[in-house]
Amino acid sequence: MNSVAAVAVIGSGKMGEILAAGMVRAGAFRADQIFVTDASEQRVAEVVDRHGFRSPGGNLAAVGAAGIVLLAVKPKDVAQVLEEIGPGLGDGHLVISIAAGITTAFIEQGLPQGAVVRAMPNAASQVGEGMTAICAGSRATIEQLETARVILQGVGPVIVIEESYIDAVTAVSGSGPAYFALFAEAMIDAGVTVGLPRSVSEQLVAQTMRGTAALVTDGGMQPVEVRSAVTSPGGTTAMAVGELERAGVRAAVLNAVQAAFDRSRVLRGPSS
Ligand SMILES: NC(=O)c1ccc[n+]([C@@H]2O[C@H](COP(=O)([O-])OP(=O)(O)OC[C@H]3O[C@@H](n4cnc5c(N)ncnc54)[C@H](OP(=O)(O)O)[C@@H]3O)[C@@H](O)[C@H]2O)c1
Repeated sequence: MNSVAAVAVIGSGKMGEILAAGMVRAGAFRADQIFVTDASEQRVAEVVDRHGFRSPGGNLAAVGAAGIVLLAVKPKDVAQVLEEIGPGLGDGHLVISIAAGITTAFIEQGLPQGAVVRAMPNAASQVGEGMTAICAGSRATIEQLETARVILQGVGPVIVIEESYIDAVTAVSGSGPAYFALFAEAMIDAGVTVGLPRSVSEQLVAQTMRGTAALVTDGGMQPVEVRSAVTSPGGTTAMAVGELERAGVRAAVLNAVQAAFDRSRVLRGPSS
């Protein structure tokens, strides 16, 4: 097999499995072109069993069998993995890292050869509706960045950014599903408070969230247009939006995103 046409997934945890399955779903690779590894052999066996991937028997063997490496271990395990796979990497290798807070410079320092692309996917990748931002390391070509884009778009849209935006991306789309989920939780509880059975409230909220997103993504409306369209003067929505504004929801969102951004910078540290 041509090793460029194969991917080594180092760390087959939650995201590794989701992204590998997405590559197959999107037709970027066949299942037998994906080599998976993990710290746990049982985990590898489960993932191989579920998807028909291959298991080469270790990280070094995996990068030897594949031209593209997806680094999907936790940030704390990255340095050790780089040490392990470094000797197996050649000039033509492309390493795509999804480890939060780990810079392309840090990975390049640990790998004498190979190009690096850093990616920040989010939890909605699990259902093919993820939002992933990618940025190129200093050794990555435009073609390699494009390869990373094609591979990752199996789990949702991919946007190319400068690495300097990555903490902001983490604060918006990385943590974003939690913000919308918190709002949805509150709305479900509120629906129950005004008399709805919980299951009905859950259904109403989930579809309203999906429908609102579709108005923006498919309907071409700005969020402010959606809000105006459903807000008649003196009506029910106007009363509700007034309450949200008085409660400072807008300021709370601003503070929340700023806090996530600040935390991302702290976790990254000054030199990594
Ligand atoms: N989850 C998200 O929504 C999300 C979003 C954006 C980015 N990320 C990034 O994605 C990465 C993976 O996150 P995750 O949630 O998928 O974590 P996870 O489920 O813990 O997966 C990581 C896997 O790597 C394995 N591993 C540890 N050391 C290894 C080694 N030396 N060689 C091979 N495999 C090894 C772990 O095994 P053990 O558990 O046995 O140690 C685990 O199965 C993280 O760096 C995270 O920052 C995650």
